[in-house]
Amino acid sequence: MPLTTSSMPLLLLLLLSIHTALSSAADCDPADRAALLRVKAELGDPVRLAAWQPSSSSTNCCSWDPAVICDIATGRVTALALCSLPDVSAPVPPSLGDLAALEILQIVSVPGLSGPVPATFANLTRLRDLDINGTSISGHVPASLLAGAANLSTLVIANSKLAGPIPASMSSLLPNLRYLDLSGNLLTGAIPPGLLHGSFRFLFLSNNRLSGEIPSDYGDADVDTVDLSRNNLTGDPSAFLFGITKATAKIDLSWNGLEFDMTEVRFPHHLRFLDLSHNRIRGGVAKSLRDVNLEHFDVSDNELCGEIPAGRFMAAHGAECYARNKCLCGTPLPPYNNTGL
Ligand SMILES: *[C@@H]1O[C@H](CO)[C@@H](O)[C@H](O)[C@H]1NC(C)=O
Ligand SMILES: *[C@@H]1O[C@H](CO)[C@@H](O)[C@H](O)[C@H]1NC(C)=O
Ligand SMILES: *[C@@H]1O[C@H](CO)[C@@H](O)[C@H](O)[C@H]1NC(C)=O
Ligand SMILES: *[C@@H]1O[C@H](CO)[C@@H](O)[C@H](O)[C@H]1NC(C)=O
Ligand SMILES: *[C@@H]1O[C@H](CO)[C@@H](O)[C@H](O)[C@H]1NC(C)=O
Repeated sequence: MPLTTSSMPLLLLLLLSIHTALSSAADCDPADRAALLRVKAELGDPVRLAAWQPSSSSTNCCSWDPAVICDIATGRVTALALCSLPDVSAPVPPSLGDLAALEILQIVSVPGLSGPVPATFANLTRLRDLDINGTSISGHVPASLLAGAANLSTLVIANSKLAGPIPASMSSLLPNLRYLDLSGNLLTGAIPPGLLHGSFRFLFLSNNRLSGEIPSDYGDADVDTVDLSRNNLTGDPSAFLFGITKATAKIDLSWNGLEFDMTEVRFPHHLRFLDLSHNRIRGGVAKSLRDVNLEHFDVSDNELCGEIPAGRFMAAHGAECYARNKCLCGTPLPPYNNTGL
């Protein structure tokens, strides 16, 4: 089962608590403990991190439950979760970059965390999974991160205040990237081609201000999810849609300015979710959709016209899936009626 966006933090927390239980025997690396204490100070001593103390019954930072995980053999901090810190009002702690053995870093629901990702993140060369969600982090997609973290496979900076374009160099600098979620930011400019690599790719760029056309190479391999909804994308995405050859499960291109004739588009039959609503799609409803067993389907608020194809899986879609188009007719809408035209 591919991970979904919403299950990821939960799964990570679960992994964190299991690993913490296993690794609490290890004595933590003194330099890492000092770095964690600097992080705590840079965050302004949030209440939830009260257990992080330089001298107390637990100087072993590997037992600073549940936020810290260590490698059992080395005592190095390999994972850190800073979650739900409502009392923080500070820039991103530069000392996080001193935790050089970090493989997983999660910063979730810290709305007062602001400023850019610091340059010290270039030292996190072992990072595989960076998950930032619900902060006020701003600036551009962090160049420091792209420069250092060649092993990054999951990059989430969502629901924050990132602005500017997605760097085209991202695809070459992060050769292992397969899960990218930059949704809910203020990103502008075009979507660069070739962002993701490997199999089972996930791309979430919804709720930004991205413009231009959808690169045609996005469908050409193992893509699970492409969610580009609520942007300002234009042009004809049929090359992207035509290119989908493998088990793509979800495509959401709703609330954009896409303009194309849908009639001849061949949708892959493994698709389970297709939302093309709120665009400027013309022509007829694609006949290829008869063979696609969609759990979610929406082409409302477009400029479609003509008879809705019948048969196979089409019966599953109600009238609301076709609402507010130009001149659609046929089941589930009323039959063709030219007296009003
Ligand atoms: C980010 O947080 C929001 C709100 O809690 C949640 O709905 C969303 O699934 C999260 N996204 C990621 C990528 O974790
Ligand atoms: C990375 O770490 C090295 C050694 O600790 C340090 O000299 C350097 O300044 C760090 N780089 C950044 C960008 O922080
Ligand atoms: C990247 O991952 C590979 C394989 O896990 C590992 O051998 C390599 O040391 C990692 N690179 C860095 C910079 O940690
Ligand atoms: C979307 O793009 C169009 C054409 O480039 C432009 O006129 C419009 O202002 C943009 N809308 C937003 C919300 O950026
Ligand atoms: C056809 O459309 C006209 C005008 O909208 C309407 O008056 C008429 O009742 C419709 N006829 C049928 C058979 O639905």
